[in-house]
Amino acid sequence: MDDIETLKRRAGEAAAGLVRSGTVVGLGTGSTARYVIAAIGRALADGTLTDVSGVPTSAACERMAREAGIPLVELGAAGVDIAIDGADEIDPALEAIKGLGGAMTREKIVAAAARRFVLVADATKRVERLGERAPVPVEVLRFGWRRTAAALASLGCTPRLRGGEAAPALTDNGHPVLDCAVPAGFDAAAFAAAVDTLPGVVGTGLFLGLARTAFIAGDGDVVRLERGGAAS
Ligand code: A5P
Repeated sequence: MDDIETLKRRAGEAAAGLVRSGTVVGLGTGSTARYVIAAIGRALADGTLTDVSGVPTSAACERMAREAGIPLVELGAAGVDIAIDGADEIDPALEAIKGLGGAMTREKIVAAAARRFVLVADATKRVERLGERAPVPVEVLRFGWRRTAAALASLGCTPRLRGGEAAPALTDNGHPVLDCAVPAGFDAAAFAAAVDTLPGVVGTGLFLGLARTAFIAGDGDVVRLERGGAAS
């Protein structure tokens, strides 16, 4: 049985193989995406890749990318050629929950700006339906967060302030996060649409209709999944 770090590394390195010279890459956040960053850094150092620049999705990933020697740029109007990021849950249609690391709002801006958005994960992240294990993280304004939490609860979820009231965890944007446990049978698309209309909500960790490809590492192999069907 391969250990989880080996699986994360394999998924990350397989996805990094999609990066081409002369492109702008969205760099994801988390313990799996860091293997993508390391692999791109190595490929730039040994000349396999040239003229690649990265758009970081968090302060932590920006530090990693600098250490790996990846030139960084701001997200421009033209978006990015490819973005590669981890996930907390991935369903069979490649819909995903992200944000247990708190970076979901920037991650989603970059994912939506990518010509190809790719997920990387170990096989423990696969679920039959979103919300099975992970809550849906919702980044909210600090102002009125209790009211926003009540509005979220009225949609049928159970919000919990990440870190607790005494020491709330804040995103890189300076906002608290409400982790919303969702009930069995929850309709991710309807929930996302309703949450997006609530004043006070900055962004959610529901990544629907975004991922085109996923590299998922299980014991012994990495499976490549494409939206709409094929596995290889
Ligand atoms: C960061 O906010 C998240 O969206 C991560 O991409 C996600 O939590 C996956 O992280 P791991 O690869 O560390 O599990």
